[in-house]
Amino acid sequence: MRTEQPKVIHLKDYQVPDYLIDETHLTFELYEDRTLVHAQLVMRRNPDAGAGLPPLQLDGQDLELISLALNDRQLGLGDYQIAEESLTLQPDAASFTLDSTVVIHPESNTALEGLYKSGGMFCTQCEAEGFRKITYYLDRPDVMSKFTTTVSAEKHAYPILLSNGNPLASGEEGDGRHWATWEDPFMKPAYLFALVAGDLWCVEDSFTTMSGRDVALRIYVEPENIDKCQHAMDSLKKSMTWDEEAYGREYDLDIFMIVAVNDFNMGAMENKGLNIFNSSAVLARAETATDAAHQRVEAIVAHEYFHNWSGNRVTCRDWFQLSLKEGFTVFRDSQFSADMNSPTVKRVEDVSYLRTHQFAEDAGPMAHSVRPESFIEISNFYTLTVYEKGAEVVRMIQTLLGEEGFRKGSDLYFERHDGQAVTVDDFVKAMEDANGADLTQFKRWYSQAGTPRLAVSEQYDAAAKTYSLTFRQSCPPTPGQSEKLAFVIPVSLGLLDGQGNEIALRLQDEDAPVGTTRVLAVDQPEQTFTFLDVPEQPLPSLLRGFSAPVKLDFPYSRDQLMFLMQHDSDGFNRWEAGQQLSVQVLQEMVGQHQRGEALQLDQRLVAALRSQLEDECLDQAMVAEMLSLPSEAYLTEISEIADVDAIHAARDFARQSIATALFELFWKRYQANREVSRQTPYVAEAGHFARRALQNIALSYLMLSGKPEVVAACVEQFEEADNMTERLTALAVLVNSGFEAERDNALASFAEHFKDNPLVMDQWFSVQAGNTQPGGLERIQHLMQHPAFTLKNPNKVRALIGAFANQNLVNFHRADGAGYRFLADQVIVLNKLNPQIASRLLAPLTRWRKYDTSRQALMKTELERILASGELSSDVYEVVSKSLA
Ligand code: PHE
Ligand code: ZN
Repeated sequence: MRTEQPKVIHLKDYQVPDYLIDETHLTFELYEDRTLVHAQLVMRRNPDAGAGLPPLQLDGQDLELISLALNDRQLGLGDYQIAEESLTLQPDAASFTLDSTVVIHPESNTALEGLYKSGGMFCTQCEAEGFRKITYYLDRPDVMSKFTTTVSAEKHAYPILLSNGNPLASGEEGDGRHWATWEDPFMKPAYLFALVAGDLWCVEDSFTTMSGRDVALRIYVEPENIDKCQHAMDSLKKSMTWDEEAYGREYDLDIFMIVAVNDFNMGAMENKGLNIFNSSAVLARAETATDAAHQRVEAIVAHEYFHNWSGNRVTCRDWFQLSLKEGFTVFRDSQFSADMNSPTVKRVEDVSYLRTHQFAEDAGPMAHSVRPESFIEISNFYTLTVYEKGAEVVRMIQTLLGEEGFRKGSDLYFERHDGQAVTVDDFVKAMEDANGADLTQFKRWYSQAGTPRLAVSEQYDAAAKTYSLTFRQSCPPTPGQSEKLAFVIPVSLGLLDGQGNEIALRLQDEDAPVGTTRVLAVDQPEQTFTFLDVPEQPLPSLLRGFSAPVKLDFPYSRDQLMFLMQHDSDGFNRWEAGQQLSVQVLQEMVGQHQRGEALQLDQRLVAALRSQLEDECLDQAMVAEMLSLPSEAYLTEISEIADVDAIHAARDFARQSIATALFELFWKRYQANREVSRQTPYVAEAGHFARRALQNIALSYLMLSGKPEVVAACVEQFEEADNMTERLTALAVLVNSGFEAERDNALASFAEHFKDNPLVMDQWFSVQAGNTQPGGLERIQHLMQHPAFTLKNPNKVRALIGAFANQNLVNFHRADGAGYRFLADQVIVLNKLNPQIASRLLAPLTRWRKYDTSRQALMKTELERILASGELSSDVYEVVSKSLA
C-alpha cells in the first residue's frame, strides 16, 4: 500500500535507461513460509544514455534485502539507499555484476501480482510492473535480458518446476527437495518472466513448424482438470498453423507450455514459452463449459500464442505503447476467430461489445487515447480502449492499405524490429514504408480520445443522375482534450436501388464504375462525395462491416431499415439495420413509459423478426443475433441521461410482445433444434453453435409465455442436455421466471452436481446475479455467504459482484442507492486484498454522469466514501479521484 503521494507518469518524460542488464541469473528457493530469491545481474552502462556513471536506481517493492554484492564485494548499509519502491547505489565501472538476495512472501500475496500462491501451486504474474515484487531490477520493458532460472522446492508438493525457455538441467538436493534450471535464449523484458511450481499433470502433443522443427506442446493443470484440456490444445495447434499462413510467423523455442491457475487477475499472460492462464480461459469440455466459453478459450489461447511475435519478439518500449502489442494482437485473434468460425457473427459480437463497453469508457471520466499520455497506475490502462479500440485502429489501417499492403507492412515491422522494444510510431512507420503511404493524419486515432460522431446527409439530383453524401465529423471533449482535429475515417459503403440491387459505384472524376462496395477516406470536418450515373434515388448502406469505430448518424426511416435488413449484401449491415430499428422502437417506448402512457410496440419490428424466423435458409447464428434486442447497457450508453427503469420496462415489454406474437414460430424452431441436439453429440463448431444459439434464444422467448408445455420443455432441457450450453440456458431461463419450484429445484441440483467444480459454480453465481426480478441485492448478499464464494478469487468476484453491477442494471441502480453502497463496501475491502480487482469493480460507479440527479448524488457519495476510507492503493485512488474530478 502506498504511503507517498501517487506520482503521475508522462509519456513526454520518457528517457532511455541509464543501465542495461545483459544477463539475468535467478535462483528461487521456495518454502511454505518464505521464498528466497537470488539474482545475479550482468550489467553495463547504456551507451545510448550519455557519458559518466549516474547512480543506478533499481525498482523493488515489498522486498526484504538479505545481501547485496557488487562484483563479489559485499555492500554495507552506507553503500546503497533503500526507499519504498527502489534501491539506489553508485557503480564504479561501466560494466559490473550485481548479486542480491531478497526474501518475499508469496504465501500471503493476495494481490496476485509478482510471485504468489494459487491453491497449492506457486506462480507468477509480472506484467506490467510485478517483477519488482520479486527482486530488485530495472523493471521496464525496454530493458531486455537473457534469463536463466533455477527453481528449488520440496519435491512431493511441487513435483513440477517450470520457467521460460528450454529445460537445461535438474536434480535432487536430498532432504526431499529438488531443482530445475531453465534457459531462455531470447532476450526479454522482465514482464515476460514466469515461474510455476506445483503438483500438476499435463496433456502433451507436438507441432511441426513450417520449417520442419518439432515443438513439444504441454498444457499443465491440476489433476482433476486433465480431462478438460483437449479443446485448448486443438486451439493452440490451429493458432500455430494460422499464424504461419496468415502472417508468416513461426514458433521459435523447442517447447510451448500453458499452465492453468485458478486465481488470476486477467484472462491469461503471454510469458515467453510459458503462458499462464486463468483456468477459465483454458478448461473446456461439453459438460462444464458453454459454447461461448469454448470460443473464449479458442480466442485467448490464440491471443497469447500470437503475442510470441506481436509482443515478445517485438515488444513495447514503454507502457504508453501497450496497444502496440495488445491492439495488434486482439486484431490478430479476431481475424483468427473469424476464420475458424463465422466472420459475420464474430464481427457482430465484437462490435456490440465495443459499442456497449468501450464507447461508455470513451464517454466517461477515465477516457484516454489508445496511446495514453499519462497514468498514475499502469494496471488501470489495460482497458477496452487500449485493447478493443486499439484493434479497431489496426483494422482501419488494413482497410485503408488493403489486405496485401497490410501484410507487407506487418512483414516489414517484424523484420525491422525483431528483438527490439519499439513504439506505436514504429509500427505505423513500417506500414507506411511498405506501402508508400502517409498515415500522419491517421495517427490521430492513437492520440485523441473519445468516440467520433459522423453525421451523414444525402442529396439526389434526378436530372443529373448524381448522388452526393455529405459527412460531418466531430468528437466530444474528453478529460484533458477539449478540441479535436479531424480523424481519417474509412467509410465502407454501397448503394441499393429500389429492388435491393447494388448500384455500380463511380465517383466524380472516375472514368468508369469500380465495384459496388467502396471505402471512402473521410478526413475533413465536412466533406462531400458525389457518385455519377446513379439511375434512381438510392438507399445508402453505410459503414459496412463497421469500418470505423464511430457513431454514425443517418436519418433512416423504419421502412428503410427493414428494407436494408432484407436486401443489404453486407451481412453485418443487415444485422445493424435490425439493431437500429430495434433502438428506434425501444427509445419510442422509453418515451411512452416516461410520459406515463401505455407501452406500444411498433409492429414493424415484429414483422421484421418474423421474417427472420421464417426463413430457414438464413444462418441460424445470425437469426439469433437479430432476435437479441439491444442490451440495457447499450441503451444506457446511447442515452444522454439513462432512465434505468424505463429502459428495463420497455425492453421487457418488447420481449413479451414478440414472444406472444411469434410463439408458434419460436416453438417450431425450438423443437426442431432441440431434437437435433438430442440426437447429436456435442461438437464445438460454428454450425453447432448456431443451432444451439437459435434454440436457446427461442427458449428464452418461449418461457415468457408461461405455458406448461414450455416449462416442461425447459426442465427437460435442463435435466437431459449433455452439454453446459443447453443446461445453463435452461437454468438461466428458469431463474428469471416465476416458476419458483422448478427454479429452486434446478438451482439446488445444479449446485449439488457441480459443487466441486469452481468454474461451473462461477456460472451458477452469474446466472443468479443476472436475475432482474426485484430483490437482486439481497440475493447477492445472501450468495456471498455461500461456501463456494470468496472475495479472494477474482473469478468469483467477477461472477457474482461484477455480473450484478454490470448486467443487472435495474437492481444495481435501485433508487435508494443500496446497490451503490454495497459495491463501494466491496471495493473498500478489495482495495486491501487485491487493488487491481478493486479498481476494475469500481467502473460502474464512475459512470455517474449518465443517471438522474438523485442517482448521481448517491453514486458520488459512494465514490467520496471510498476516497475517504483510508489508505488507498494507487489503482483505486486513480480511478476514484479522476471520476470525481
Ligand atoms: N498481457 C495479457 C494479455 O493481454 C494481459 C495481462 C495483463 C495479464 C496484465 C496479466 C496482467 O494477453
Ligand atoms: Zn494481450
